[in-house]
Amino acid sequence: MKYLKFNTGSKMPVIGLGTWKSSPGKVKNAVEEAIKVGYRHIDCAAVYQNEKEVGEGIKAGLKNNQVKREDLWITSKLWNNAHKKEDVIPALKQTLKDLQLDYLDLYLIHWPVAFRPGLEGFPENEDDYLSLEEVPIIETWNAMIEAKKQGLVKHIGVSNFSIKKLEDLIDQTEVFPEVNQVELHPYLHQDDLLQFCQTHKVHLTAYSPLGSGDRSPQMKADNEPSLLENETVVKIAKSHQCTPAQVLIKWSVERGVSVIPKSTNPERIKQNLASIEVELSADDMNQLKVLDKHFRYVNGKFFETTDKYQNIYDE
Ligand code: A2P
Repeated sequence: MKYLKFNTGSKMPVIGLGTWKSSPGKVKNAVEEAIKVGYRHIDCAAVYQNEKEVGEGIKAGLKNNQVKREDLWITSKLWNNAHKKEDVIPALKQTLKDLQLDYLDLYLIHWPVAFRPGLEGFPENEDDYLSLEEVPIIETWNAMIEAKKQGLVKHIGVSNFSIKKLEDLIDQTEVFPEVNQVELHPYLHQDDLLQFCQTHKVHLTAYSPLGSGDRSPQMKADNEPSLLENETVVKIAKSHQCTPAQVLIKWSVERGVSVIPKSTNPERIKQNLASIEVELSADDMNQLKVLDKHFRYVNGKFFETTDKYQNIYDE
């Protein structure tokens, strides 16, 4: 396995198991199976509403495979309804309880969007949102720093942050985010963001690397392009006798970012980890480069129903 390294000496395995959309009843086995076949990085979030079951999977995976907690890298994310300074550590503690852990390796602010404290589900009206003037990101970030000081998390970062939002944050703090988790795949290269993050020593993690075809219909646009069926991806896969998913996963690794394909299927869980062995040539990477069309599967429009949040990605 390859790793992304941190200044403390910690190492994040570049391929992790995604758990967004992993349904209850399946995710415990998926996590346990992943640990069994060699995954050491699991990506979670409170809003996925499955952390209790993920926790069961981690517990079983550790026990049945004689793996130690310190050999795993566990990431989770602060949901939008707990951005106020007094709500961050309680939300983190709930996640730790659900995951049956006493620390996380990485905790991320899930979105640069704040909801009314404690709001269950998605906002239904203006009052369910708090603007970034009402709860500035720096307020949330300072509480994340405090969580790190208390030893509840080893590293802190953000997710879905544009260059502008990262700049705004790092202008106000000495403690830079260590990771930004964003959507990345051959239809969305985000070269400028990648370069900005490399310059400022912020690692990137790629979500939706396979196009997240299992999103709910409300989250899908009409006629979305398929990554797994893309002609170029399929052709490259054939030339290496691997699968299109493996090409997509290795593409992220080649760009120096970590990647968290989701699967609850044992065969595909194993296959996705084995992507590390696929050797993409410079020519393969060039062919994948021209696929960039700035297309997002997770377009953030669901937060743009209020005047408080427009243009989430600052584009
Ligand atoms: P499943 O969980 O049944 O394997 P993303 O990681 O971009 O969110 O994509 C997740 C989707 O991709 C899920 O529908 C998942 O289905 C599917 N998937 C995961 N691994 C593979 C694979 N190796 N080949 C094809 N589809 C896959």
